[in-house]
Amino acid sequence: MIYSIIVAYGKGNRVIGKDNSLLWRLSDDFKLFKSKTMGHCMLMGRKTYESIGKALPGRTTIVLSSTLELEEHENLKLARNLTEVESIAKECGETEVFICGGASLYNRFSPLATNLYLTEVECNLEGDTFLCDFELDQYELVEEQSFSSSEKNQYPFIFRHYAKK
Ligand SMILES: NC(=O)c1ccc[n+]([C@@H]2O[C@H](COP(=O)([O-])OP(=O)(O)OC[C@H]3O[C@@H](n4cnc5c(N)ncnc54)[C@H](OP(=O)(O)O)[C@@H]3O)[C@@H](O)[C@H]2O)c1
Repeated sequence: MIYSIIVAYGKGNRVIGKDNSLLWRLSDDFKLFKSKTMGHCMLMGRKTYESIGKALPGRTTIVLSSTLELEEHENLKLARNLTEVESIAKECGETEVFICGGASLYNRFSPLATNLYLTEVECNLEGDTFLCDFELDQYELVEEQSFSSSEKNQYPFIFRHYAKK
């Protein structure tokens, strides 16, 4: 199973969230997120799932939690531990699981990630949740796109895809 991290973080301090919410509106980044994850399994921690509040269409959301009670359906699955994550993904016929946050999952999966889809947001905002460092020397840059701030994108940002060497 391939695990791929997908995350947007503030360039200044690696902030990723505040009060269990995102800190920016970046429509073009949302489109990239959608195009990369579409058709795949997305794994998220219980707090991130609660902040979104639903499974996103066209993908299977796997929520990792030891406490949550959830009514599962075709696109929404509950995993109590990482072994269950892998078996659910296999049952879905998945080969690439996208790690969609939050900080606790990025931390846990950073040594395992084959792909890093990183959106670096040009901002310096206060928050309460931060992204771990990655061993970028173990990866090569395979894609990079820059976006200016606009009506659609609150801040400029750079999207980069790194793949493990
Ligand atoms: N900028 C971005 O791209 C991005 C993306 C996603 C999220 N975020 C932000 O990140 C923040 C949330 O991150 P967070 O680290 O506080 O929370 P989180 O990772 O979303 O959720 C943490 C919860 O996940 C469950 N969990 C984690 N590891 C587990 C394991 N090994 N086994 C069983 N359950 C496990 C636990 O739930 P139980 O307590 O129920 O056991 C834990 O309390 C929010 O501010 C959100 O907006 C940002």
